[in-house]
Amino acid sequence: MKFGFIGAGNVAQTYAKHFVRHGHEVVLSNSKGPDSLAELVRSIGPNAKAGTVKEAAKQDIVILAVRWEQAEQALAEVSDWNGRILVDATNRPLEEDTKGKTASEVIASYAPGARIVKALNTLVANWIQDYSDKKPKLVLFLSGDDTDAKRKLARALEETGFVPVDLGGLIDGGKLQEFGAPLSGLHLDLIKRLEF
Ligand SMILES: NC(=O)c1ccc[n+]([C@@H]2O[C@H](COP(=O)([O-])OP(=O)(O)OC[C@H]3O[C@@H](n4cnc5c(N)ncnc54)[C@H](OP(=O)(O)O)[C@@H]3O)[C@@H](O)[C@H]2O)c1
Repeated sequence: MKFGFIGAGNVAQTYAKHFVRHGHEVVLSNSKGPDSLAELVRSIGPNAKAGTVKEAAKQDIVILAVRWEQAEQALAEVSDWNGRILVDATNRPLEEDTKGKTASEVIASYAPGARIVKALNTLVANWIQDYSDKKPKLVLFLSGDDTDAKRKLARALEETGFVPVDLGGLIDGGKLQEFGAPLSGLHLDLIKRLEF
Protein backbone atom coordinates (compact mmCIF):
# COMPACT_ATOMS: atom_id res chain seq x y z
CA MET A 1 0.00 0.00 0.00
CA LYS A 2 1.19 3.56 -0.74
CA PHE A 3 0.51 6.17 1.94
CA GLY A 4 0.70 9.91 1.34
CA PHE A 5 1.13 12.25 4.28
CA ILE A 6 0.06 15.88 4.20
CA GLY A 7 2.29 17.08 7.01
CA ALA A 8 5.66 15.68 8.00
CA GLY A 9 5.77 16.37 11.74
CA ASN A 10 5.53 14.12 14.77
CA VAL A 11 2.40 12.19 13.76
CA ALA A 12 3.37 11.77 10.10
CA GLN A 13 6.91 10.60 10.93
CA THR A 14 5.69 8.17 13.58
CA TYR A 15 3.10 6.42 11.39
CA ALA A 16 5.37 6.61 8.34
CA LYS A 17 8.00 4.62 10.24
CA HIS A 18 5.43 2.02 11.32
CA PHE A 19 4.18 1.64 7.74
CA VAL A 20 7.66 1.43 6.19
CA ARG A 21 8.78 -1.22 8.72
CA HIS A 22 5.87 -3.35 7.48
CA GLY A 23 6.67 -3.04 3.77
CA HIS A 24 4.43 -0.12 2.81
CA GLU A 25 5.61 2.94 0.86
CA VAL A 26 5.18 6.50 2.11
CA VAL A 27 5.33 9.98 0.58
CA LEU A 28 5.71 12.84 3.07
CA SER A 29 4.93 16.47 2.26
CA ASN A 30 4.93 19.83 4.01
CA SER A 31 4.49 23.50 3.12
CA LYS A 32 8.20 24.07 2.44
CA GLY A 33 8.60 21.57 -0.40
CA PRO A 34 10.27 18.16 -0.91
CA ASP A 35 13.88 19.40 -0.65
CA SER A 36 13.30 20.37 2.97
CA LEU A 37 12.37 16.75 3.74
CA ALA A 38 15.28 15.00 1.97
CA GLU A 39 17.23 14.17 5.12
CA LEU A 40 14.13 13.11 7.02
CA VAL A 41 12.96 10.62 4.40
CA ARG A 42 16.48 9.20 4.07
CA SER A 43 16.39 8.48 7.80
CA ILE A 44 13.07 6.63 7.45
CA GLY A 45 14.34 4.30 4.73
CA PRO A 46 14.25 3.51 0.99
CA ASN A 47 10.47 3.12 0.95
CA ALA A 48 10.04 6.75 2.07
CA LYS A 49 9.99 9.64 -0.40
CA ALA A 50 9.45 13.38 -0.12
CA GLY A 51 6.86 14.99 -2.38
CA THR A 52 4.59 17.94 -2.81
CA VAL A 53 1.17 17.99 -1.14
CA LYS A 54 -0.35 17.18 -4.54
CA GLU A 55 1.92 14.14 -4.93
CA ALA A 56 1.11 12.92 -1.42
CA ALA A 57 -2.58 13.31 -2.21
CA LYS A 58 -2.28 10.89 -5.16
CA GLN A 59 -1.32 7.88 -3.00
CA ASP A 60 -3.71 4.98 -2.17
CA ILE A 61 -4.43 6.32 1.32
CA VAL A 62 -3.75 9.94 2.24
CA ILE A 63 -3.25 11.02 5.85
CA LEU A 64 -3.87 14.57 6.95
CA ALA A 65 -1.34 15.23 9.72
CA VAL A 66 -1.12 19.00 10.03
CA ARG A 67 -2.19 21.19 12.94
CA TRP A 68 -5.88 22.12 13.00
CA GLU A 69 -5.24 25.71 11.94
CA GLN A 70 -3.09 24.54 8.99
CA ALA A 71 -5.65 22.10 7.59
CA GLU A 72 -7.70 24.41 5.37
CA GLN A 73 -4.64 25.85 3.63
CA ALA A 74 -3.00 22.44 3.23
CA LEU A 75 -6.12 20.89 1.71
CA ALA A 76 -6.64 23.85 -0.64
CA GLU A 77 -3.73 22.42 -2.68
CA VAL A 78 -6.00 19.60 -3.88
CA SER A 79 -9.01 20.75 -5.87
CA ASP A 80 -10.90 17.46 -6.25
CA TRP A 81 -10.29 14.23 -4.40
CA ASN A 82 -12.24 12.06 -6.88
CA GLY A 83 -13.22 9.52 -4.21
CA ARG A 84 -9.72 9.00 -2.85
CA ILE A 85 -9.33 8.11 0.83
CA LEU A 86 -8.38 10.91 3.23
CA VAL A 87 -7.64 9.97 6.82
CA ASP A 88 -8.22 12.83 9.23
CA ALA A 89 -5.61 12.46 11.97
CA THR A 90 -5.98 16.03 13.22
CA ASN A 91 -7.20 17.14 16.61
CA ARG A 92 -9.26 20.26 16.99
CA PRO A 93 -8.26 22.47 19.94
CA LEU A 94 -10.93 22.36 22.65
CA GLU A 95 -11.53 26.11 22.48
CA GLU A 96 -12.32 26.00 18.75
CA ASP A 97 -16.02 26.66 18.08
CA THR A 98 -17.16 24.62 15.08
CA LYS A 99 -20.81 25.58 15.50
CA GLY A 100 -22.14 22.13 16.37
CA LYS A 101 -20.12 20.30 13.70
CA THR A 102 -17.72 17.49 14.53
CA ALA A 103 -14.08 18.17 13.70
CA SER A 104 -14.12 15.75 10.76
CA GLU A 105 -17.19 17.39 9.22
CA VAL A 106 -15.17 20.59 9.10
CA ILE A 107 -12.21 18.75 7.55
CA ALA A 108 -14.55 17.08 5.04
CA SER A 109 -15.79 20.51 3.95
CA TYR A 110 -12.17 21.38 2.97
CA ALA A 111 -11.77 18.20 0.87
CA PRO A 112 -14.60 17.90 -1.65
CA GLY A 113 -15.00 14.42 -3.11
CA ALA A 114 -12.79 12.68 -0.52
CA ARG A 115 -13.85 9.57 1.34
CA ILE A 116 -13.02 10.67 4.88
CA VAL A 117 -12.03 8.35 7.69
CA LYS A 118 -11.28 9.76 11.13
CA ALA A 119 -8.35 7.78 12.55
CA LEU A 120 -4.81 7.95 13.97
CA ASN A 121 -5.79 10.89 16.17
CA THR A 122 -6.31 9.16 19.53
CA LEU A 123 -2.81 7.88 20.36
CA VAL A 124 -0.02 10.16 21.59
CA ALA A 125 2.70 10.00 18.94
CA ASN A 126 5.62 10.10 21.39
CA TRP A 127 4.24 7.03 23.17
CA ILE A 128 3.99 4.81 20.08
CA GLN A 129 7.53 4.93 18.77
CA ASP A 130 8.43 1.30 19.36
CA TYR A 131 8.93 0.04 15.79
CA SER A 132 10.23 -3.39 16.78
CA ASP A 133 8.51 -6.74 16.25
CA LYS A 134 7.65 -6.70 19.95
CA LYS A 135 5.69 -3.46 19.87
CA PRO A 136 2.37 -3.46 21.73
CA LYS A 137 -0.81 -4.19 19.71
CA LEU A 138 -2.51 -0.85 20.19
CA VAL A 139 -6.14 -0.14 19.36
CA LEU A 140 -6.77 2.52 16.70
CA PHE A 141 -10.32 3.80 16.36
CA LEU A 142 -11.85 4.49 12.93
CA SER A 143 -15.00 6.41 12.01
CA GLY A 144 -16.36 7.03 8.54
CA ASP A 145 -19.33 6.72 6.24
CA ASP A 146 -17.57 4.74 3.50
CA THR A 147 -17.22 1.05 4.38
CA ASP A 148 -14.71 0.29 1.63
CA ALA A 149 -12.43 3.16 2.72
CA LYS A 150 -12.54 2.00 6.34
CA ARG A 151 -11.88 -1.61 5.30
CA LYS A 152 -8.79 -0.66 3.24
CA LEU A 153 -7.37 1.43 6.07
CA ALA A 154 -8.20 -1.21 8.69
CA ARG A 155 -6.44 -3.93 6.66
CA ALA A 156 -3.30 -1.80 6.30
CA LEU A 157 -3.31 -0.95 10.01
CA GLU A 158 -3.67 -4.63 10.92
CA GLU A 159 -0.72 -5.50 8.65
CA THR A 160 1.23 -2.79 10.47
CA GLY A 161 0.61 -4.30 13.90
CA PHE A 162 -2.29 -2.17 15.15
CA VAL A 163 -5.80 -3.24 16.13
CA PRO A 164 -8.41 -1.24 14.20
CA VAL A 165 -11.81 -0.77 15.86
CA ASP A 166 -14.65 0.62 13.76
CA LEU A 167 -16.83 3.08 15.68
CA GLY A 168 -19.36 3.61 12.88
CA GLY A 169 -20.18 6.76 10.90
CA LEU A 170 -18.10 9.91 10.69
CA ILE A 171 -20.35 11.97 12.93
CA ASP A 172 -21.34 9.44 15.62
CA GLY A 173 -17.90 7.82 15.76
CA GLY A 174 -16.18 11.17 15.54
CA LYS A 175 -18.00 12.36 18.63
CA LEU A 176 -16.43 9.46 20.56
CA GLN A 177 -12.88 9.76 19.28
CA GLU A 178 -12.26 13.44 18.64
CA PHE A 179 -10.09 15.47 21.00
CA GLY A 180 -11.67 15.76 24.45
CA ALA A 181 -14.07 12.83 23.81
CA PRO A 182 -13.99 9.59 25.89
CA LEU A 183 -11.69 7.64 23.52
CA SER A 184 -9.23 10.46 22.89
CA GLY A 185 -5.81 9.67 24.36
CA LEU A 186 -6.89 6.16 25.35
CA HIS A 187 -4.01 3.72 24.78
CA LEU A 188 -5.42 0.19 24.77
CA ASP A 189 -2.87 -2.59 24.46
CA LEU A 190 -4.62 -5.76 23.28
CA ILE A 191 -1.95 -8.23 24.38
CA LYS A 192 -1.84 -6.87 27.90
CA ARG A 193 -5.62 -6.98 28.12
CA LEU A 194 -5.71 -10.61 26.96
CA GLU A 195 -2.98 -11.68 29.37
CA PHE A 196 -4.64 -10.00 32.35
N1 LIG B 1 1.42 14.90 18.41
C1 LIG B 1 0.55 13.96 18.78
O1 LIG B 1 0.79 13.13 19.68
C2 LIG B 1 -0.76 13.85 18.06
C3 LIG B 1 -1.50 12.68 18.17
C4 LIG B 1 -2.67 12.55 17.45
C5 LIG B 1 -3.10 13.57 16.63
N2 LIG B 1 -2.39 14.72 16.55
C6 LIG B 1 -2.86 15.76 15.62
O2 LIG B 1 -2.19 15.51 14.39
C7 LIG B 1 -1.89 16.74 13.73
C8 LIG B 1 -0.38 16.82 13.50
O3 LIG B 1 0.26 16.84 14.75
P1 LIG B 1 1.87 16.85 14.85
O4 LIG B 1 2.18 16.72 16.29
O5 LIG B 1 2.45 15.91 13.87
O6 LIG B 1 2.17 18.35 14.37
P2 LIG B 1 3.57 18.96 13.89
O7 LIG B 1 4.70 18.14 14.41
O8 LIG B 1 3.52 20.42 14.18
O9 LIG B 1 3.53 18.74 12.30
C9 LIG B 1 2.73 19.49 11.45
C10 LIG B 1 3.27 19.29 10.05
O10 LIG B 1 2.39 19.94 9.12
C11 LIG B 1 3.21 20.62 8.15
N3 LIG B 1 2.43 21.68 7.51
C12 LIG B 1 2.08 22.89 8.00
N4 LIG B 1 1.38 23.59 7.09
C13 LIG B 1 1.27 22.79 6.01
C14 LIG B 1 0.66 22.94 4.73
N5 LIG B 1 0.01 24.07 4.39
N6 LIG B 1 0.75 21.93 3.84
C15 LIG B 1 1.42 20.80 4.15
N7 LIG B 1 2.01 20.58 5.36
C16 LIG B 1 1.94 21.57 6.27
C17 LIG B 1 4.39 21.10 8.98
O11 LIG B 1 5.52 21.37 8.18
P3 LIG B 1 5.91 22.84 7.66
O12 LIG B 1 5.52 23.83 8.73
O13 LIG B 1 7.38 22.71 7.46
O14 LIG B 1 5.14 23.00 6.42
C18 LIG B 1 4.66 19.87 9.84
O15 LIG B 1 5.45 18.94 9.13
C19 LIG B 1 -2.44 17.84 14.63
O16 LIG B 1 -3.72 18.20 14.16
C20 LIG B 1 -2.52 17.18 16.00
O17 LIG B 1 -3.52 17.77 16.81
C21 LIG B 1 -1.22 14.90 17.23
